[in-house]
Amino acid sequence: MTETTFKATVLYAEDDLSQRTVTSLELKRLGLEVTAVPDGEKACAALTKGPFDLVLTDIKMKPVDGFKVLAEARRRSPEAQVIVITGHGSIDSAVRAMKGGAFDYLTKPIEPEALQISIEKALERQRLLREVEQLRAQVRGKFSLDNIVYASSAFHNILDLVRKVGGTDASVLIQGESGTGKELIARAIHEASSRRDHPFVAVNCGALPEGLLESELFGHARGAFTGAVTQKRGLFEEARDGTIFLDEIGEMSPPLQVKLLRALQEGEVRRVGENRNIKINARVVAATNKDLRAEMQIGGFREDLYYRLNVFPIEIPPLRDRPDDILPLAERFLKLAHGKHKSKACRYSTQAAEALKAYRWHGNVRELEHAIERAVILAPNEEIGLDDLPPEVRTAGGAGPTIRPLDSVEREHILGVFAACGENQVETAKALGIGRNTLWRKLKEYGAPKSEATEKKKKLKRK
Ligand SMILES: Nc1ncnc2c1ncn2[C@@H]1O[C@H](COP(=O)(O)OP(=O)(O)OP(=O)(O)O)[C@@H](O)[C@H]1O
Ligand SMILES: [Mg+2]
Repeated sequence: MTETTFKATVLYAEDDLSQRTVTSLELKRLGLEVTAVPDGEKACAALTKGPFDLVLTDIKMKPVDGFKVLAEARRRSPEAQVIVITGHGSIDSAVRAMKGGAFDYLTKPIEPEALQISIEKALERQRLLREVEQLRAQVRGKFSLDNIVYASSAFHNILDLVRKVGGTDASVLIQGESGTGKELIARAIHEASSRRDHPFVAVNCGALPEGLLESELFGHARGAFTGAVTQKRGLFEEARDGTIFLDEIGEMSPPLQVKLLRALQEGEVRRVGENRNIKINARVVAATNKDLRAEMQIGGFREDLYYRLNVFPIEIPPLRDRPDDILPLAERFLKLAHGKHKSKACRYSTQAAEALKAYRWHGNVRELEHAIERAVILAPNEEIGLDDLPPEVRTAGGAGPTIRPLDSVEREHILGVFAACGENQVETAKALGIGRNTLWRKLKEYGAPKSEATEKKKKLKRK
């Protein structure tokens, strides 16, 4: 076993002193931190104190035996792997221990090699379980309701729906423009449901040609088509008791829509090239950025499938229609990108914030997310300024689509050109394509500084 600074811990219960001494040494030699106890009672007491990675216990001990230690270990520290030691030839107790959740059993006399192999396997299993748990927690964190950012009442209502629908098995149809958060909501529904410990399987129905999508969804038999070298389970089967997310359902071809409808109605799928049916139990969440109602009217989407999927509709409005969500989202993405890129940027200038709020975000939250990540990389210091934002966003903060009266825009523009032309009225009028008199009148209206030439003329007149 490789030596690391981290030592796995083992609780070892054995009533025979000489056996205990020998095996304890063996365990130490394997790099483990050993707590050795002479009976089951002390083992159970030790379990209440420390977390152990492994429990190695003899079965025959008095008054408390190894089965009790096993049961206590399963109850107190389910992540600990239990290896039981049985007397020679007592296969019954080995079976009983395995049924009780033991990872492995060893028979006396303990072979050092067998001990080492069993312990390595147990530690490896434990490492994998931990890793899965961590990854699960990460995914759960990312998609949990608490991590969804919003301030608008529209989104608040959506999350209410998610919570309500989470408790049911109803099919959900999520509609919204690209980048509005459809997949996020689909995952949130899964996490809010009792299916959360089962798989969440996402399929993009727009990304595959019809035949391939069919075998992807329903599976195929070996040799069902060229390239089908092995038989394969479909994603409906893979999703088991979890959730299947049918993304871009509006892209599905009409023949496949028929097959999907049949599968949903009957709760069964048939692998391509097979003629037996397989029961399915996955909950269906579908999403689309198309207007399915309109598609239905022109015959692109089947009405019966639409109603089957649309038991529970959720519509996510575009980001521009819920402007209250923009800055909270921008803050979240800034925090994330700040950590990810180890950048100094940690706040927005007032103008940058204004521009973010004013921009129309046709690519919705996804576009916002990318714009912020880019800005965080570009920004040279703590404050993200207008210049760090993409050009199209930048202009939104100024004369862009913000609603302003025309005369204020005109005033600003004329004065700007006037200044750029060195306050020369002839040149300014030429540049603007308007008559000198018009320009003069407007400048007077704006109280613009009089050009030197005009001043001189006046002075001459007075003389
Ligand atoms: N309310 C929100 N809070 C936090 N992050 C969000 C929110 N809405 C969307 N996002 C993030 O924005 C990105 C786009 O969201 P998602 O992929 O769910 O959108 P979509 O509607 O499925 O887009 P597309 O139609 O392009 O597939 C993701 O990174 C997602 O995590
Ligand atoms: Mg998506």
